[in-house]
Amino acid sequence: MTLRLLALLLALLSFSSEAAGRPWVIAHRGSSGDYPGLTMLAFTKAAEEGADMLELDTAVTKDHQVIVLHEPDLSPTTNVKDVPEFAGRLKTDTIFSDDNYTKNVTDYFTWDFSLDEIKKLRKHQRISFRDSSFDGKEQVPSLREAIQLVKRLDSERQPDQRRVALLIEVKLCRYFTARTNRSKEVLIAADLTAEGVDNRPDIIHLQTFELQCAAELKRLLPNLPVYKLEESAGISDEKLTQWRRDLKLDGIGVHKAMVAGGSANPASPEFTYKYRVTGPTDLVQRAKRQGENFKVLVWTLRNEDRYIAWTFSQDGWAEADFFATEAKVDGLITDFPKTVRRLVDDRFASSGSKIGSPSGGLPALLALAAAAAASWSSYLAV
Ligand SMILES: *[C@@H]1O[C@H](CO)[C@@H](O)[C@H](O)[C@H]1NC(C)=O
Ligand SMILES: *[C@@H]1O[C@H](CO)[C@@H](O)[C@H](O)[C@H]1NC(C)=O
Ligand SMILES: *[C@@H]1O[C@H](CO)[C@@H](O)[C@H](O)[C@H]1NC(C)=O
Repeated sequence: MTLRLLALLLALLSFSSEAAGRPWVIAHRGSSGDYPGLTMLAFTKAAEEGADMLELDTAVTKDHQVIVLHEPDLSPTTNVKDVPEFAGRLKTDTIFSDDNYTKNVTDYFTWDFSLDEIKKLRKHQRISFRDSSFDGKEQVPSLREAIQLVKRLDSERQPDQRRVALLIEVKLCRYFTARTNRSKEVLIAADLTAEGVDNRPDIIHLQTFELQCAAELKRLLPNLPVYKLEESAGISDEKLTQWRRDLKLDGIGVHKAMVAGGSANPASPEFTYKYRVTGPTDLVQRAKRQGENFKVLVWTLRNEDRYIAWTFSQDGWAEADFFATEAKVDGLITDFPKTVRRLVDDRFASSGSKIGSPSGGLPALLALAAAAAASWSSYLAV
């Protein structure tokens, strides 16, 4: 009986770690609502606040190091303009993406700086109406530093603690490849291999808007999940099938309006959040027809009312609740992981995170064990 009870407990534990319906809390650029995004501070805080994943962006330096930064230009989030030794680096460049978006930008570009030079810069809050009191303190991390953080969190993790994974966005592949004369995808794969995490789907996931880049990442890193990002009016079944069947991608990451419904194309310049949602749209259902394991992530949940549709009463909790329990997405990408963690714990009590760790904590496991013992004894009683 002891063995059978143990087997039942193990089955319950593995069920709890794969519990259907409990979405991942994905911290967009770390806890970027409260701290300067894409810094070790924002990542550490996000992990403490209960994120299942830390989302980050990547750029490449002159000496072919992958760094954690959203744009190829440095002034939007660093003090580069105030550092006299870099005054001569101001340049105009045409930034282009694989899908032929182009923009001329006059700024300081990562591919014109070595990693040592980038390390002399300090980050600041990107958004004017957010807390700037952490400005000037944090550096631009390298991708390897961010990987080392999740490896450390994983190795120090107690059995009752949640696992924290990295969701690495790979933007502007052809652009960086053209400016650095190195394939951006190959540089990323090399860092993952050097850190011994190229076979660790439990702690490393990837995403990109660019289809060619997604295909190349999947070819180089076949054991890691790769998601196709999309911001448009909709995604056809033909595209979903192509991404799943032909490119072997693992899911999509979409603008939240594509799942909420009721807005015009979120990619249009006229888009605002001030509309009433009509959905959920059929996008999640259609994606799930590609396979239950084909994930749907939505971005970006933010607590400020200017980012929230009228329907949700200017309340980030209500918005997250809609995506988690009505739209039933697999991942909520948010600037405020603390809020979304509370929502998910409230709505999906005592079932585990789908990345693989029982995130309900030890009390939840003990409760499951007690339930198992109780159901076993009632079975014996009958
Ligand atoms: C971008 O431009 C290239 C070259 O002109 C073309 O082959 C490709 O199909 C375009 N891609 C998209 C997404 O429009
Ligand atoms: C960017 O600048 C180049 C060279 O000056 C010009 O040919 C091109 O049309 C500009 N592109 C955009 C999108 O403004
Ligand atoms: C670009 O990289 C290739 C292979 O890595 C190398 O053979 C070539 O010399 C490089 N070109 C420049 C301009 O650095």
